[in-house]
Amino acid sequence: MSTNRVVDPATQTIPPEQAYPVGSPDHDHLAPPLPVGFEEQADELISHYPVSKRSATLPLLHLWQETFGYISDDGIEWIGHKLGLQPINILELVTFYPMFRQHPAGKIQIRVCRTLSCAMAGSYDLCNHFRQKCGTTENEVHGLEISPDGKYSVEFVECIASCGTAPVIMINDDFHENVTIKRADELLEKYR
Ligand code: FES
Repeated sequence: MSTNRVVDPATQTIPPEQAYPVGSPDHDHLAPPLPVGFEEQADELISHYPVSKRSATLPLLHLWQETFGYISDDGIEWIGHKLGLQPINILELVTFYPMFRQHPAGKIQIRVCRTLSCAMAGSYDLCNHFRQKCGTTENEVHGLEISPDGKYSVEFVECIASCGTAPVIMINDDFHENVTIKRADELLEKYR
C-alpha cells in the first residue's frame, strides 16, 4: 500500500510547494523587505540543525523579533516558508512562549519579573503601578500592555536571573534591582 507522505521523516518538515500549494493564495507570497544580511543570518542558524531544520524555528523567531521588534504575520509566513512548515506550526510557538510578541512594544519597554522570588517581593503590585502610571491597556494574549501614544509598554517576564535582589525589572536594556514603588516613580522620571 503506498503512503502519500506529507512529512519528510528525516526532517519532519514539508517541502515549500506543499506548504504553499500551487493555486493557493500563499503560493506567490512575497517575503517582506528584509535588512541586508538577514537571510544569511537565518541560513547560518538553520545550518546548526542539519538533521531537522524544524529545530531552527525558535532561533529564527528570536532573530525576527530582535530585528523587527515583534513577530508579524509576515514573519510567521516567512519563517514557515523558509523551514518548509505551515504558518500554524510557527504561530503555535509564538502564542505559546511568553517572550514572543505579536505587536510592537513601546519606545520605553518595561519588563517586570513575575517568577517566585519577585512575585513574593511584590512584583505584581509593582507591575500594576507601572501600568497605572503609564496608562497602558492590554494589547495581546501574553499580557503586553501599551500606552495609547505607543511610548510605554509594560509586560511580565519570567526569571531574569537576579532572584536575590527581587523584585527585578528591566527598562529597555537596563537592569534594575530591589525596585520599590518609590524607585519605580524615580525610574519613570528618568526615562520619560
Ligand atoms: S525570580 Fe525574579 S529574577 Fe529570579
